[in-house]
Amino acid sequence: MAKNHVKFVKKIRMKIVSTVKEIQKQIRERNQFPLGFVPTMGALHEGHMSLVKDAVAQCPLVVVSIFVNPTQFNDKNDLKNYPRNIDGDLALLSYFLRENDLVFTPGTEEIYPEEDTRKFNFGNLDSVMEGLHRPGHFNGVAQVVSRLFEIVTPDIAWFGLKDFQQVAVIKELCRQTGSKVKIITSPIIREKDELAMSSRNQLLEQDIRKRAPVIYKTIREASEMINQKDIPEIKSFVEKRIKNEDGFSVEYFEIVDDTELIPVIRKAEMNKEKRYFGCIAVKTGNIRLIDNIEFKLA
Ligand code: PAJ
Repeated sequence: MAKNHVKFVKKIRMKIVSTVKEIQKQIRERNQFPLGFVPTMGALHEGHMSLVKDAVAQCPLVVVSIFVNPTQFNDKNDLKNYPRNIDGDLALLSYFLRENDLVFTPGTEEIYPEEDTRKFNFGNLDSVMEGLHRPGHFNGVAQVVSRLFEIVTPDIAWFGLKDFQQVAVIKELCRQTGSKVKIITSPIIREKDELAMSSRNQLLEQDIRKRAPVIYKTIREASEMINQKDIPEIKSFVEKRIKNEDGFSVEYFEIVDDTELIPVIRKAEMNKEKRYFGCIAVKTGNIRLIDNIEFKLA
């Protein structure tokens, strides 16, 4: 289990704001530096809270946004079924935020007063793994994150490494748009049985949920094989192991570097100066679960 599991502290009342005009007014009035920002889609859990906790530790003013962004869902059913629990979210945030901090809960019309037709070009970053299997997903993420940055004007923003590819895309978005926002990443927070925490976990049937830790166990074992085995063997180990689990299938498993996300085909291509991560997406019923782990060469 990750060491930085969050601790619950005293419950407070932070301010909750749902319009662009009001959030900008509140931020202006507080006039504090650095302004920390944690964008989320709600259904909050300890993974989100680790980002919030870190932001609170580093910034005198923190904004957490809760907005289920329709433009990043390439599957309408996924959007419809995405868990929403605003009361639970606010209750959880009240343990971690301070009175001075802000929660931004805009409606779609606030974020997109007009349809957002911007098309970003992230090259390879958007054409592998999630980009390949969820066409348009990262374009939607870039739309909402750039819009939220424009509204909130943070100095620092937090993103979790659970969404490894999203981090690379957002760093590239900042580079392309000349954004000065500093991006900080946080490690993956896991359940006791090591399943990566995710809002989607609550959608899993009981039996599937019980067996879902196989995903992390498999990629961890795969990461331990890197100094003995070559990539094709490791990939086939992962695919077979997940396929053997009833009701689970691998959508992709790739070992990529952490900046360009180029899939490694043979171990000889790996460069000791770079960092590599094994990234997996598993389908079980209608639910997709993603996870990743570093592959370290000895
Ligand atoms: P969401 O899935 O709600 O996640 C919000 C942030 O929490 C992301 O940066 C995500 O990587 C992080 N996070 C989620 N589960 C985590 C875990 N188990 N450990 C550590 N961090 C975790 O990612 C999004 O929302 C959206 O794409 C968003 C960036 C808000 C744009 O709509």
